[in-house]
Amino acid sequence: MKKGFLHRMGLFLIAVVFVANACKHSPSDVPGPDPGPDTNITGAGCNPDTVYFVNTILPLLRSGCAMSGCHDAASHKEGVILTDYQNIINTAKVKPGNPGDSKLYKVLIKTDDDRMPPPPMAAFTSEQIAKVRKWIEQGAKNNSCTETQCDSVNVSFASHIFPIIQTNCMGCHSGANPSGGITLSNYQQIVAVASNNNKLLGTIKHLPGYSAMPPGGKLDECSIAKISKWINDGTPNN
Ligand code: HEC
Repeated sequence: MKKGFLHRMGLFLIAVVFVANACKHSPSDVPGPDPGPDTNITGAGCNPDTVYFVNTILPLLRSGCAMSGCHDAASHKEGVILTDYQNIINTAKVKPGNPGDSKLYKVLIKTDDDRMPPPPMAAFTSEQIAKVRKWIEQGAKNNSCTETQCDSVNVSFASHIFPIIQTNCMGCHSGANPSGGITLSNYQQIVAVASNNNKLLGTIKHLPGYSAMPPGGKLDECSIAKISKWINDGTPNN
């Protein structure tokens, strides 16, 4: 009798924990930038026709999918963990060369409630989906590149700043329930954060008094230099 009650109580508590544990964007549970020992960091410069895992795919999946309650290691919804290369390949069933047969790609292009990230979170943009597709078509490699020459002088919002924010920030800072109440989905919103107590620069440079962003690891120096230049230029909509 008593045992039955405790058993039911236990099930009830588990159910409560599940319901309460909806997807949250907590900075603490996104792992650091180390993508694993098998990373092939070439440093050979970036080929504009190549989609690189470490530069583009990993930040996209970390900010859009690997938050607490979703696909971080602790939550691993449906067994899917999207925090590092090996887990992305294995648990999201990526078939190199074949996006149509890769679960990671198939869930992004769904149009019903099974779409990932699920409603009410924002879907990936068509450009982001195209990048995932191209990366898989190009062999789903664990590759990365460093821009050999960082052009932080000729900076435009549309060509440089917006793509950086889209890849590294928007997964958490968009949709109905943005992290920290901060939305970074368009020009006006990004300018508002940049001009509010210098929060954009403070967070990405990890200056004292600001939360370090993105939580998974610092942006590369070239991206930080471009954002600094754009802010010094007076945040033009160019
Ligand atoms: C994995 C989710 C996640 C990603 C990715 C992310 N953030 Fe955040 N961000 C948060 C959370 C959670 C908070 C609120 C808690 C805090 O301030 O630490 C926050 C807070 C902030 C704040 C307010 C901090 C302050 O000191 O007032 C700013 C500004 C910000 N983020 C900018 C960014 C920018 C810019 C990027 C991309 C370069 C980014 N975030 C990427 C989760 C994220």
